[in-house]
Amino acid sequence: MEPWFDVQTNLEKIVRKAVAKIGISHTEFDANIRLADPRFGDFQVNGALSYAKKNQQNPREVATKIIEQLKTDNSLNESFEISIAGPGFINFTLKPPFLLDWLKTYSGEEHLRTNAGELYRNKTFVVDFSSPNAAKQMHVGHIRTIVIGEAICRLLSFCGANVIRDNHIGDWGTGYGMILYGYKNFLDSKALKADPLEELERLYRKASAITKEDPNALNEARQELVRLQNGDPESIALWERVNKLSLEAVEVIYQKLDVHFDYYLGESFYRDKVEQVYRELTDLNIAEESKGALVVFHPEHPRFATQPFIIRKSDGASNYASTDLATMLYRTEHFKADHIIVITDSRQSDHFEQLHLTTEKWFKKTNRELPDFHHVTFGTILGEDGKAIKTRSGESIRLKELLAEAEERAQRIVNEKNPDLSPKEAVEIASAIGIGALIYADLSQNRTGDYVFAWNKLLSLEGNTAPYLLYAAARIHSIFRKAGIDENSLPLEKINELETPEEQYLARKLIAFVPNLNQTTTSLRPHFLCNYLYELAGVFSSFYNNNKVLVDDDAIKARRLLLCHRTLLILETGLHLLGIRTLKRM
Ligand code: ARG
Repeated sequence: MEPWFDVQTNLEKIVRKAVAKIGISHTEFDANIRLADPRFGDFQVNGALSYAKKNQQNPREVATKIIEQLKTDNSLNESFEISIAGPGFINFTLKPPFLLDWLKTYSGEEHLRTNAGELYRNKTFVVDFSSPNAAKQMHVGHIRTIVIGEAICRLLSFCGANVIRDNHIGDWGTGYGMILYGYKNFLDSKALKADPLEELERLYRKASAITKEDPNALNEARQELVRLQNGDPESIALWERVNKLSLEAVEVIYQKLDVHFDYYLGESFYRDKVEQVYRELTDLNIAEESKGALVVFHPEHPRFATQPFIIRKSDGASNYASTDLATMLYRTEHFKADHIIVITDSRQSDHFEQLHLTTEKWFKKTNRELPDFHHVTFGTILGEDGKAIKTRSGESIRLKELLAEAEERAQRIVNEKNPDLSPKEAVEIASAIGIGALIYADLSQNRTGDYVFAWNKLLSLEGNTAPYLLYAAARIHSIFRKAGIDENSLPLEKINELETPEEQYLARKLIAFVPNLNQTTTSLRPHFLCNYLYELAGVFSSFYNNNKVLVDDDAIKARRLLLCHRTLLILETGLHLLGIRTLKRM
């Protein structure tokens, strides 16, 4: 029989059963299995403590009874030492034959994926990320929704989900009045060719400045907007051209970051779908007229009882809320989403909370199934002065320039460390290191906090960085090159029991990949996986420094190469899940 891939989840099921067998109700017992302090075991369950306290019993006695029950299961005894510790913790320690069996069994990225697929099998997730506003540059801050979104998509699909990546571009709004007016009157075609977003931004600024001074100009800009909203073919054609140029520009950034979308259903896609929203919400008495606008109050909420969700403006125009309500409906009905995830910075929290509350009431009254909704938020990227990061002259840093600088800086490091590489190889390596370092610097921070951006820290070959992890993986590739052995054809039959403490410790750390993956995916927080990979690389280092791999004894060599390979496998799988390209040499 194959050893459990997901030890934690399976153990949890068994503990629940054992607890029920000795007559403790599952509602009274916390059977959550945690990763244990490695000095005491691999997994731990603490439920006996709170149960005993509530029922005025001795926690050690409760734990002892549970252990006795668990020990009646022979296959469990084969895999685990089970012991009691402290005031009544139950510790599970995997036995060495299980460790080896696990390592032998789970041998490749696809194999890991198939097994991880239990978690979200047959669940559909619509993930709305990046979603920039058209006709504008992306700045440093825009990297967060892109890299967090991409990692979350990869993690979910690795865990079996059907993932739909939807780029909800901000391509419909009052700003277009200015852009079209500017485009018609002040366009510099050469500049547009050279850098479309730069020119579109200039046109927008110019139009806003002029319309502030000149009422005739303001009137014309307004007319542009009205014509566009009424579907005038000439206006629509120009609007499409602006959007096409914007999209081409952001596409360059997506390519660099290795990010792809399944759909680009921007705000404009929903413009003919908002009438149904107004109608249904009005008929259901969820929305009401207030000062000419259509709004939704949430009397049960401390703030939204008085601060309404405006779903149609007083001039009759749709807004961010109207299109987002229509988007909720579309994702539910058309994509049959079980989960909807939207990734934006935390300043949009109120909007999404109101959106969710409104949708909840709306769907309930119309007997529609409400998907689970997650607003995944993140903090600000700070400069070394602790304030939102800016250029020296105080402007926002453009994302495309940030990416270019990352590659340049990495290039300098690569040239210095490894001058013998072919130019082509050096560029590829530098790009993987530079871009990987940016992605990792972002993902390794708990996303809800702010973080300080520092080039020397994120490009360092030491510490919790992408270069350190990429190097750890490349080093294992070089071990196999030196051994002259193909890493995918290890002589498994020669391998016997793990012996040294370092071998065993590394094996335990590798098996802990699965609980860490699950925690990362269910919490939608990639930093958990980053921390784990960083720790794994450290554990590998101490194994490697204390246990010579390329020894004469074939059995020992094969065993240690197995550990090397599985470390490589999990490091690379983990980095790929984070959206980072890995390298065979560095
Ligand atoms: N375009 C918005 C912005 O730049 C983000 C859109 C997020 N998605 C959504 N369905 N509202 O802030």
